[in-house]
Amino acid sequence: MLEIRNATSADQKLLEDMYLTEVEEHKERAATFASDLIHHFKTMLALQDNELCGTLTWDTRGGYDDGVVELVSIGVNKAYQRQKIATRLVDTFVKEASKFYSDRGYDLRVIILFMEKQNEIARKFYKENGFTESAIIPHLYPHDDGVIWTKHL
Ligand SMILES: CC(C)(COP(=O)(O)OP(=O)(O)OC[C@H]1O[C@@H](n2cnc3c(N)ncnc32)[C@H](O)[C@@H]1OP(=O)(O)O)[C@@H](O)C(=O)NCCC(=O)NCCS
Repeated sequence: MLEIRNATSADQKLLEDMYLTEVEEHKERAATFASDLIHHFKTMLALQDNELCGTLTWDTRGGYDDGVVELVSIGVNKAYQRQKIATRLVDTFVKEASKFYSDRGYDLRVIILFMEKQNEIARKFYKENGFTESAIIPHLYPHDDGVIWTKHL
């Protein structure tokens, strides 16, 4: 069964282990990654039968009256891809972020995100999930241009 929930301090080791398995064997960076996701950003975890299989990280941008959030990162572990887990993460994120704004008397209006121009899989994924390619930022990344995608709600 797929469960999607917000990350808490209790998830530090879970996220460190995911970094060590999916990204690189670097304990310090794994600890920083996990701590940033928990304390610096708002992060949602996807767990399949209690196994961590994906994350989505987001934050507000500007004043609440702007109604803008950034989808900072999304990732699904390789073994779990193409099972609509990222789609479920995005759907839950939209509900969660909308509630965040409405609880404070504002409306969520726009989701923005940055991605590397050459990431064809992400391009297909975001298009499939109702995002629009809105702007290109030349040389944003060390080896690629950046693309800003938006979704107006
Ligand atoms: C992009 C990513 C999050 C998608 O996760 P996912 O759980 O596999 O995505 P979903 O199963 O919800 O895919 C939804 C749709 O997106 C598109 N899509 C997703 N992965 C795709 C792939 N490898 N090739 C082509 N289309 C793909 C398809 O249209 C898919 O629908 P379908 O399977 O019915 O054809 C995942 O590939 C990933 O973690 N990539 C590495 C990190 C990354 O690039 N993140 C985004 C940049 S910030």
